[in-house]
Amino acid sequence: MMSWRDELEAHGWAVLDHIAAHDVASKLGQVSPPMRLEPKDTDDARPWSLSGVYGLGAFPWHTDGAISSNPPRWMLLQTIELSDPTWTELLAPVPDTLAGLRRTTLRAVDRAGRVSYLPAVVPLGDGRLRLRWDPRICTPRTGLTVDEVEGHVPTARVEWQPGRLLVVDNFRIMHRRPAVHGQTKRLLERTYAWDR
Ligand SMILES: [Fe+2]
Repeated sequence: MMSWRDELEAHGWAVLDHIAAHDVASKLGQVSPPMRLEPKDTDDARPWSLSGVYGLGAFPWHTDGAISSNPPRWMLLQTIELSDPTWTELLAPVPDTLAGLRRTTLRAVDRAGRVSYLPAVVPLGDGRLRLRWDPRICTPRTGLTVDEVEGHVPTARVEWQPGRLLVVDNFRIMHRRPAVHGQTKRLLERTYAWDR
């Protein structure tokens, strides 16, 4: 059986059951305080959040901290409370898509309304790449369109179960949430970790 570290290396994501997110995050790097995520109507959500834009509808493929100057390498999600079956979808872009993303420049608008132009793929120098994608705050001006990326079927679908922990390499893998019904309890806790 592969260790979770090997799985992260091989696939860019791993599922662990009944282990505290903080224990895993602290092995990966510098850890953020956890944040609880719950589906919200656009009216109840912070305007800047995904819920503020998409409400209970499906979220688009994205990376977290897409226009941040220091986005987290690792995103950990763990189930806190669930009422109905629900899941998170993951997308590992195939080489063709990556090539398209390398040609893609995004027009980003930050919270203060400042506009900048940023590449959708940032080379990290050691052969690794960092993806940047979030149609809510940065939209393509060259290369791939939002619809082209949105049309990709998930590489994986992680079904939420009590105690389940999902670890995602936020530099390699995009993620999204399906639409949820108003009554569905879907309380997850998110923790970030930055490489040391
Ligand atoms: Fe996200």
